[in-house]
Amino acid sequence: MTASTAPVLANAKMGGRTLIVGSTGFIGRLISEACLDSGRSTYLLVRSGSPASTNKAQTIHSLQNKGATILIGTITDQSLMEKILEEYKIEVVISAVGGESILDQLQLVNALKSVGTVKRFLPSEFGHDIDRADPVEPGLQMYNEKKQVRRAIEEAGIPYTYICCNSIAAWPYHDNTHPADVLPPLDHFHIYGDGNVKAYFVDGTDIGRLTIKVINDKRTINKAVHFRPPNNLFSINELASLWEKKINRNLPRVTITEDDLLNAANEMRIPESIVAAFTHDIFIKGCQINFALDRPTDVEATSLYPDTPFRSLDECFDDFVPLIIDGRVMAEKSASGSATEAIKLPGSEAYAITLSAA
Ligand SMILES: NC(=O)c1ccc[n+]([C@@H]2O[C@H](COP(=O)([O-])OP(=O)(O)OC[C@H]3O[C@@H](n4cnc5c(N)ncnc54)[C@H](OP(=O)(O)O)[C@@H]3O)[C@@H](O)[C@H]2O)c1
Repeated sequence: MTASTAPVLANAKMGGRTLIVGSTGFIGRLISEACLDSGRSTYLLVRSGSPASTNKAQTIHSLQNKGATILIGTITDQSLMEKILEEYKIEVVISAVGGESILDQLQLVNALKSVGTVKRFLPSEFGHDIDRADPVEPGLQMYNEKKQVRRAIEEAGIPYTYICCNSIAAWPYHDNTHPADVLPPLDHFHIYGDGNVKAYFVDGTDIGRLTIKVINDKRTINKAVHFRPPNNLFSINELASLWEKKINRNLPRVTITEDDLLNAANEMRIPESIVAAFTHDIFIKGCQINFALDRPTDVEATSLYPDTPFRSLDECFDDFVPLIIDGRVMAEKSASGSATEAIKLPGSEAYAITLSAA
């Protein structure tokens, strides 16, 4: 085990010791930042073998500067995981591994079971209630893998919480896994179906903040926590109108039919086809809103924490506006190889940079 090995007790801060897996990823970084902001002792498991990128190194460096302890390893190494859990007296484990690594968590579950001291495990979910949603392939395969992990956790008797945070507050491109890294459209909108099916769009910082809030809450043990903030429930037509208001300009709306989405899913391009399958499930079938929270294992975030407001979608979309004025900010994000396109906004000297799907 390699680590910036500060002694465990000297490192003890507020709250239980929390190990986060996947902190260099999109969702994992949000959770890691929230964990550090909460004052908890935060340990981040970072893989050494995967391709290193400047972004990854910067993320690790910035989280380390905020007080995280970096541990090198992979969750597929069960004996290493057991050693980490014991040596660092980890009380909470949060996994935010990506779609291609969902089944890697089975070895982590084995380690959690064998050690038996972790008080809460949050597996990599952070989307829909996978026991209810029924996307077409290849989305279904990812959900089946997540279900396999759920069943392994439950069988092992590990205390868990499943975070069903719904969509991230951003334009829901049907071919992009990380839409919050991309500006909403500046040329035309793709409207899915009739554009009237609603979904919950939750700010990334709220996903992080609420995830950390639930881990100490007894009411969320062995529950699925659903994020359903009423003010963040929008159809894609409403989302388009909101963005038009922000950029002071109307854009053409191009319909993407149910068949278009199914065809995109059917192409089996990974990850784009997975996103197309989820887009179909959300905006055609209404998978976020077509069920009541009526199971004993359901709890809802705004009911649990009525005094904790969610950022409104209006505020979230405000965040994108300065990125249009200073296109360079988004252009920097294109270092990953995304194509860029410059667009001049009418009535403005500013150029906007839209990034195509990464
Ligand atoms: N609600 C939404 O809108 C939304 C959007 C996106 C994702 N999600 C969900 O959020 C979860 C995370 O997805 P993401 O897109 O954030 O993932 P991501 O960006 O691909 O990041 C995955 C992270 O997991 C790490 N990792 C993968 N396998 C590992 C292993 N065996 N051991 C240790 N670390 C490992 C990766 O490390 P390396 O840096 O070494 O590769 C990376 O840090 C998924 O369940 C996904 O379905 C939800």
